[in-house]
Amino acid sequence: MPTSTTSDITVLGAGAIGAAVAWRCAQRGLTVTLVDPAPSRGAWNTAAGMLAPVTELHYTETPLLRLNLASLAQYPAFAAELADESGRPTGLTENGTLQVAWDGADFAALRELHEFGRTLGVATELLGEAELRALEPALAPGLPGGLLAAGDQSVDPRLLHAALVTACRRRGVRFVESSGTVLADEDRVRGVRVGGVEISSPVVVLAAGAWTGTIEGVPTSAAVPVRPVKGQTLRLRLDGPTRLNHVVRAAVRGSSVYVVPRADGQLVVGASTEEAGFDPRPRAGAVYELLRDAQTVLPELSEATWDEVSTSFRPGSPDNAPIVGPTRIPGLLAATGHYRNGILLTPITASGVADLVTTGTLPGVLAPFTPARFAEAT
Ligand code: GLY
Repeated sequence: MPTSTTSDITVLGAGAIGAAVAWRCAQRGLTVTLVDPAPSRGAWNTAAGMLAPVTELHYTETPLLRLNLASLAQYPAFAAELADESGRPTGLTENGTLQVAWDGADFAALRELHEFGRTLGVATELLGEAELRALEPALAPGLPGGLLAAGDQSVDPRLLHAALVTACRRRGVRFVESSGTVLADEDRVRGVRVGGVEISSPVVVLAAGAWTGTIEGVPTSAAVPVRPVKGQTLRLRLDGPTRLNHVVRAAVRGSSVYVVPRADGQLVVGASTEEAGFDPRPRAGAVYELLRDAQTVLPELSEATWDEVSTSFRPGSPDNAPIVGPTRIPGLLAATGHYRNGILLTPITASGVADLVTTGTLPGVLAPFTPARFAEAT
């Protein structure tokens, strides 16, 4: 192996975001190197793949909602292009999300969410008890109502990631399965060192999700404030014809749960939210709570068989929003901190970073999310 090589852009992190950034940049004719010591550990491997900007809505996060909606709008074309280039499916399904109310107070909160969404032009439909059961007969009787976000979609993140990796390979992206150390001075990034090899690159992208803060060589002035937020998902399977028509979400006695159906009959139940550092061990209490709450809303789940419990780490940021754009070091970019929306925000992050690299301009919808907003804190 040579002791030095060059690449127009080196991306640190081969998860959904990093691989999508690499693919989009390679499409624009750039030479791209993708560096990751453990590509399968990414949050994509655990994520359920809900593309649900509306029901993940929090009242203080209007710019994030706009970004989420813009990325959701890009998904059908993104997935079609990716499937075309890779020859692989992504599992994109336009099934909508049903947010189920657990009690009257919960239903009142859904009414408020519905009204708030309307002020932003987001279409949702409030459903009473009978309408809810008619739409999703597997739901437990007695739930007071729900909110249908018919425009929500879901994708299978494992299929999506496999398609991205294939599309990258077909575009000539070079994969390096190793840790990379950023080579940078205060006035510019110079590249990445992998073992004894220097990859000389005028552009380096920090896209290692929850692990971004562990990348060596990043100058303190360009440090990106992400932390791991552990999430567990369960994969179950029901025999027979029972099939959910929608992604179902609920807050059972205040405890959030969602169930995402796959075309092959698998049901992904998620997700815990734990501040536990990088401890990857599944926690029994989290598994119990997810099963208890999911089964409360969908009683038939007691008949389901067990496929898997999966754990990974969301990249949490101080304001729960992504960190995308230039750091203080010229050429050193961030594409991380996507927290609960990494799969949803993959298309818009990838095209936004490719725009930034090739034109020098980040699209306006991403402008509120640059690392500069943490300038005082870092
Ligand atoms: N977006 C779902 C989750 O992070 O659990």
